[in-house]
Amino acid sequence: MKNIQSWFATSIYYAALQRNAAPLNRELLKECYQLRDFDDAGRKWSAKNYRGGYTSYGSLDKLHKFSSTFETLEKKITRHVLAYARALEMDLSGRKLEMTDCWVNIMPHQVVHSLHLHPLSTISGTYYVRTPRNCSTIRFEDPRLSKFMAAPPKIADASPAQKQHVTYKADAGKLILFESWLRHEVAANPAATDRISISFNYNWF
Ligand code: NI
Repeated sequence: MKNIQSWFATSIYYAALQRNAAPLNRELLKECYQLRDFDDAGRKWSAKNYRGGYTSYGSLDKLHKFSSTFETLEKKITRHVLAYARALEMDLSGRKLEMTDCWVNIMPHQVVHSLHLHPLSTISGTYYVRTPRNCSTIRFEDPRLSKFMAAPPKIADASPAQKQHVTYKADAGKLILFESWLRHEVAANPAATDRISISFNYNWF
């Protein structure tokens, strides 16, 4: 309608990391399983906080400082993060936007990652390493949801911009970026095999 303008956009970035990610993904996949086998503290942490799966979030969360493969990944992701920050028209002068945390998530059949955001960060995201067919998507929530109070629900076939959730497919070689305050979740993985991703935070300091 011409009398209405929309404001306060929430922007999500979704792109292929590079032209052919298969060789990089093979190397990352190998290292993800090596990490899981090596990381006793992480397996213990995951048993409590990521039931049925493995994440290095509680133990090895600076993998870009630890492995040259992850350092290569960091460099490639940073180019996308800077393009996203430019599109968001962030004024980054005087400080640097840098990767502060980087960790692995191995999500077997039926493992869930419940609704969360990434505190103490500016831009966060995930890179997909292995995504079996029909594996879980990532679902984002309208950041204003807690303010809706008595707002009526949306019609079933609401246009994308009016919906209160948006879902992206997890696709090996693809990268998703969002502002760290945006809540998201990954539902129980219906695929029989592991869904593997690498998540990260960028901070401005
Ligand atoms: Ni997350």
